[in-house]
Amino acid sequence: MDKFVIQGGHRLSGRVRVEGAKNAALPLMATSLLTNEEVTLTNVASLADIASMRKLLGMLGVEAHLGDDRVSMQTKDPNAIEAPYEQVRTMRASICVLGPMVARRKRAVLSMPGGCAFGDRPVDLHLRGLEKLGAKIELKNGYITASADRLKGATVFLGGPYGSTVTGTANIMSAATLAQGRTVIESAACEPEIVDLADMLISMGAKIRGAGGPRIIIDGVDELGGTTHRVMPDRIVAGTYAIASAITNGEIIIDDFPFDSLLAVVDRLSLIGVNIHKITPDADDRCCTVRVTSERQLKPAVITTQPHPGFPTDLQAQFMALLCYAQGNSVITEKIYPERFMHVPELARMGAQLLRHGPTVVISGGSRLVGAEVMASDLRASASLVLAGLAADGETTVNRVYHLDRGYQRMEETLRQLGAKIERVSDRPASDPSVLRGAGMAAGAAQSMQDES
Ligand code: EPU
Repeated sequence: MDKFVIQGGHRLSGRVRVEGAKNAALPLMATSLLTNEEVTLTNVASLADIASMRKLLGMLGVEAHLGDDRVSMQTKDPNAIEAPYEQVRTMRASICVLGPMVARRKRAVLSMPGGCAFGDRPVDLHLRGLEKLGAKIELKNGYITASADRLKGATVFLGGPYGSTVTGTANIMSAATLAQGRTVIESAACEPEIVDLADMLISMGAKIRGAGGPRIIIDGVDELGGTTHRVMPDRIVAGTYAIASAITNGEIIIDDFPFDSLLAVVDRLSLIGVNIHKITPDADDRCCTVRVTSERQLKPAVITTQPHPGFPTDLQAQFMALLCYAQGNSVITEKIYPERFMHVPELARMGAQLLRHGPTVVISGGSRLVGAEVMASDLRASASLVLAGLAADGETTVNRVYHLDRGYQRMEETLRQLGAKIERVSDRPASDPSVLRGAGMAAGAAQSMQDES
């Protein structure tokens, strides 16, 4: 398994462009199941999860062609309805195909996604939502079977114990585009990826209002057509590079920075002494170019992860690494996934002073981290360890970086361009072109028990 070897203590500087968002692209790819016409996505990052979704869609009769940063998809076999365990186990976000499948093909058989490294990940809200739309749901031998002659519009409540569900909202919204009549999703997820999905569905002919807010209204249509859509930039990647600048006392210019989607993160960064300064006006009201610099002495902070527009759980681990360098005690409370703390013992191996009590971690900042050999256990925990390694004294080895390949496009190359001393040590031959592209990444992803996407 590949690992990163990092020589810490180098200040990062330079310019980086944020790639297309993984968590937007996955449900966007699933829209190809809603039409027989060709659907093209641009600004698609080269990631293991994208390769996994492409493979899954292939099993479901969708032919996909990859270009440089684009993927064109078209349904060739609408009778393929089964998504097997071997594929679904490599990526939880496989659940995104369920709604489109039952809406268009009347029947879907999907292996039930399991829990993941950071806890139980139920899909009850997805299933209850589809039932509300008239689908018959059966669970047998670890598989979900959903069937309906035609879905019927209804009011669907998607609030759960930890807020709404992002992929659940994507599933129900996508399915409802082809339902008969009006669907109202109450307590919908407000994440920007839902807005991106709604924009794409609308360009395919769907009638959707309210995406981005807690009530989404969808008036079903008889069919959808093809489209070309640019995937929104990845707000979590953008936040990670902003933290990379801050933790190394660097100065990084970030293009395609989805500022409006990151207001809570920008707010917390400013509060602790990291400046995010817009240096170009917003190109399309959503993104801009920013310069990230920081004051030498960072202040501590109190952070609680929340559904959007609150502080995102997907940046919690990275922020914790940064707060190790703040002068004073910080507190992080995880309100989306109370068990999402696998980075805590690994950061502690690097000298971080962390005290966990349930869903809360107290970070006693102010002492320098030291390099160590650490184990990546999920995507964002891995990013946190890489950030810590960039700042730490000495050498850090981050094992199992296939997790990172799921969600960051060639992270080590980007960091190296910014001045980091970081190497990927591969156990595959360097000449193997699949090491960094689809197949190899998917193989890497398949090494995990159950992914975290
Ligand atoms: N939940 C339920 N029932 C459900 C669905 C969710 O109780 O049927 C709970 C979950 O257990 C969790 C909360 O609701 O406590 C929110 O989960 P959600 O369904 O919103 O998560 P998701 O849609 O499975 C997406 C991202 C995750 C990100 C979360 C939260 C994708 C492909 N994945 O997951 O991304 O952490 O939203 O923002 O969009 C990552 O990129 O590293 C990642 C894990």
